Amino acid sequence: MSEALMREVQHLTRAARMLAVVGAAAKLRSAGKVDAAIQEQIERGARMVLGDAAADLQMSDGATILTMIGMALAEAGELFRDPARTAGWQVQAPELLQVMGRASSHAFDRIFALAETRPLLRDALAGTFLDVGTGVGGIALRAADACPELRIDAIDIWEPALRLAAENIAASLHADRIRLRNLDVTALEPELRYTLAWLPTMFMNRAVVEAATARIAAATRSGGWLVAALYTTPDDPFGGIMASLRTLRGGGEITDPMELRELLRADGYVDVEVEVAPLATFVFGRRG
Ligand SMILES: C[S@@+](CC[C@H](N)C(=O)[O-])C[C@H]1O[C@@H](n2cnc3c(N)ncnc32)[C@H](O)[C@@H]1O
Repeated sequence: MSEALMREVQHLTRAARMLAVVGAAAKLRSAGKVDAAIQEQIERGARMVLGDAAADLQMSDGATILTMIGMALAEAGELFRDPARTAGWQVQAPELLQVMGRASSHAFDRIFALAETRPLLRDALAGTFLDVGTGVGGIALRAADACPELRIDAIDIWEPALRLAAENIAASLHADRIRLRNLDVTALEPELRYTLAWLPTMFMNRAVVEAATARIAAATRSGGWLVAALYTTPDDPFGGIMASLRTLRGGGEITDPMELRELLRADGYVDVEVEVAPLATFVFGRRG
């Protein structure tokens, strides 16, 4: 092995361990019962990596830091373990499905925040919401929590997730407002039911997304909204490669928000907006 390669790899393995130590320190500060000598070394390591900023690990951003580190390590570990796996959404492990469901539920918080400055979107939160790719029901349950008048149609095609969704919904206070079905979005009935629909395009190939937006449009009431999401492509070139990999390995295809915007317009959505955030970009509009 060349010396240059060895140096680079050593540098990178050190960075991976540094991230793990910072994550460990953040975890121990919120739930810390550990051998004192081990804790001391983790704390020293975190201080070495973060300098004075280590003191802030305890602050209100602690949960965000933990989520960021957890997601980076999980994604990195999964990519390294099985780079050759077929693309798509084939998560079997119940714990992982539940964790991902909880993480994805924040998508509804973003929709809710967008509604604060958009009265027409706020009105849609009192109608019927279509949660496409409901998984274990994370977004559907968050929507039911946040919007007491909203009814929810939750659909998916992955039985292991649907079984967990059924349990999660049954254990919630909202079972009477959430209808769960094994249904492919491309087979959605053209009944005019929905005031709001959520479509995570990063798990569907282009043909499915095109069929899905047309089906959803045909099932959305006049003035109803569609919020379509895709992974954000950051400006830095390496971040761009990771975002593209995330989409492709998740079974998705579309990475350009402008392509989604044109698709929504072609399906009769108006005032289509693009809202970029660090992980996911939302493209959303209203049926004219
Ligand atoms: C990231 S997961 C959903 C996470 C979800 N929000 C939760 O709380 O668990 C994406 C989901 O989209 C579903 N999906 C993919 N293609 C679909 C299709 N054509 N119709 C309906 N659901 C689909 C997958 O089965 C998968 O469960």
